[in-house]
Amino acid sequence: MRHLLDTESLSRDHAIAILDTAQEMSAVGEREVKKLPALRGRTVVNLFFEDSTRTRISFEAAAKRLSADVINFSAKGSSVSKGESLKDTAQTLEAMSADAVVIRHWASGAPARLANSGWIDAAVINAGDGTHAHPTQALLDAFTMRAHWAGLAGTPSVGGDLAGMRVIIAGDVLHSRVARSNVWLLRTLGARVTLVAPPTLLPVGVEHWPCEVSYDLDAALEKGVDAVMMLRVQAERMNASFFPSTREYARRWGFDDARLARLDALALKDTIVMHPGPMNRGLEISSAAADSPRSTVLDQVRNGVSVRMAALYLLLSGDLKSTPAPAPSAALPLVKDLP
Ligand code: CP
Repeated sequence: MRHLLDTESLSRDHAIAILDTAQEMSAVGEREVKKLPALRGRTVVNLFFEDSTRTRISFEAAAKRLSADVINFSAKGSSVSKGESLKDTAQTLEAMSADAVVIRHWASGAPARLANSGWIDAAVINAGDGTHAHPTQALLDAFTMRAHWAGLAGTPSVGGDLAGMRVIIAGDVLHSRVARSNVWLLRTLGARVTLVAPPTLLPVGVEHWPCEVSYDLDAALEKGVDAVMMLRVQAERMNASFFPSTREYARRWGFDDARLARLDALALKDTIVMHPGPMNRGLEISSAAADSPRSTVLDQVRNGVSVRMAALYLLLSGDLKSTPAPAPSAALPLVKDLP
């Protein structure tokens, strides 16, 4: 595997290798000196054609913690506004010796185009493309669930997956690359996923996805759930009216105070509430839920750095080239070799 473009094509072995390596990387974040020499002399380019806070900053932090040189490119304020193409932009950056290009783009398929075009030699990591995929978000979500699941009894186990875990993904599925990437990865890791959304916010063909679909959040919660992942209402991608009002949306599909209390009433004491961010507080999630002890929102951000360190390290070291992926022990000398 040379690139990380989506989770649909990510094998279970490769997914587990990334999660296990991220587990090792997270230990680095606990140290006083949070740096590894693993990618010294390598260059990572962050190529962002769409806005981002968490993904862009955490890829930068991840690359720097691995001692790589980092070039941050934002389309805003660049020669893209003068009409420069993706090909010319990417080749310009590769002329500056990029080893990895982390790309976020408004167009679904742009990272695959970059990876498969022959325009550049660098490894390509998809940091979110249109409504298509956001693989590192799904990996950090899985890492967070796995840490919680295994962490109930202690430290997450290396090699563990999410077998049998019940996950609800609720909200604006239609516009969500996070939902798509999570559905595929969670299926690969053995979890059972239920999508909940108004009919207008479900994509055509969702019945062929490897998950259940419901329009009723309360009914889905009543069946029992280990993780509830709320999706952002992506108003900026909406060119029509998809629900009657924000008040109606919050009442029927938002994770509000009443639904937070319902988890207690259902004795679901270990159920976590997730959100990839940025959040529309009061719409898809209430402040009480976002700030509750069940919320993993900030854990997800923290875990994003470890997961992105793992993805960068494994792609640039070539450890994901072999199939199946190396056993976790083969991926770990990096950490063990550290001073
Ligand atoms: N979750 C996520 O992708 O957030 P950003 O848009 O801030 O990167």
